[in-house]
Amino acid sequence: MKLIDRNNLAEKATRTFPGAAYYSDEQFQRELERIWFKKWLCAGRLEEVPKVGDYIVRQIGDESLLFVRGQDGDVHGFYNTCRHRGSRMCLSASGHLRGGTVTCPYHSWKYSMDDGHLLSAPNFPDNLEGFDRTQFPLMSFKTKVWQGFIWCSLDTEESAEDEISQLPAELGYYEKYHLAELKPGKVLTYEVNANWKLIMENSVECYHCTTIHPQLSRATPPDNAWWWNDEAPSESDFLDVGGMTLAENFERASLTGIATRPQFAEITDDDARAVYYFSVLPHTLFGLAADYVFCFSLWPVSAQKTKVLAYWLADPDLLNQDGILDDAFEFWDITNKQDWTAIELAQQGVKSRAFAGGGVIGLDDWLVGKFVEYIKKSLSE
Ligand code: FES
Ligand SMILES: [Fe+2]
Repeated sequence: MKLIDRNNLAEKATRTFPGAAYYSDEQFQRELERIWFKKWLCAGRLEEVPKVGDYIVRQIGDESLLFVRGQDGDVHGFYNTCRHRGSRMCLSASGHLRGGTVTCPYHSWKYSMDDGHLLSAPNFPDNLEGFDRTQFPLMSFKTKVWQGFIWCSLDTEESAEDEISQLPAELGYYEKYHLAELKPGKVLTYEVNANWKLIMENSVECYHCTTIHPQLSRATPPDNAWWWNDEAPSESDFLDVGGMTLAENFERASLTGIATRPQFAEITDDDARAVYYFSVLPHTLFGLAADYVFCFSLWPVSAQKTKVLAYWLADPDLLNQDGILDDAFEFWDITNKQDWTAIELAQQGVKSRAFAGGGVIGLDDWLVGKFVEYIKKSLSE
């Protein structure tokens, strides 16, 4: 692991995107095509669809995506759109499909939830001229499981790799947190009135921590930050954001700092005194603490509105105790809301003519510059 001392960063300011990149609908459409419909995205946890027929729905812009636990035990991804005359299929954010099928609420076309093929289309006889039922399955997309999370890629190009090549096969230093074996104790969706890039930019820097996060800063003082990966994330979608050390009088990353849960079995005592952060670009952040993991994924609704899907994961054996994760949840819920307030103010400001040329990035927010590079490179591919 390469430690980068703050004092060894290249002393060179870089620029943010121009203001319009944070609110223009054209830019948003370009990002959908070149980033969101290309990259592997983190759709949720396997525990959200535990039983055959369980489903969750995710939305990117106008695109609605259905993830179903099939009868083969795998999670299958389908566009949530009927092939007859286009109706949305599943209307809830999550639910359960019975009998291995998914039925359209408009004219009752029925599809297999395993492979999407059209099972029945009332009053569409097989010999109807111009109609071949095999040509109208639910459209599918690729899904994978990585570290207990469900991932998807909407990329249909022949050259698109079936593997999540951007992600390391192993998590290296972080493997000992055994993310796949944890379970969500809490899942929450936030709505933020801001462009998704402003949220990602905020998530990779702690320059703002002293100003807006008194609780977080008491637990992990911003002066205790370090970074250890100066390789350009544009080469990969895995961004090692860095770590923060707990304040001396804190045993845990929480409001009180009091240890109420054991630390993860395989981490070192030094690890237990840190919170490590990494990001799988374009849209996730993972924070690994001594005894829980906080993570989120972003789901852009429009150029100026984003949903944030947040998870608090812990050892499943602990989760049958009522309120066992409350301290971790409250700690991050307070911190998240402080972030959303600041980011929404930024969203308002970037629309000013005064910001048309963009802003500037310095030493303490240098990773924002890496994110900007990554997006620029992705857009030009
Ligand atoms: S639009 Fe789905 S059955 Fe008609
Ligand atoms: Fe923050």
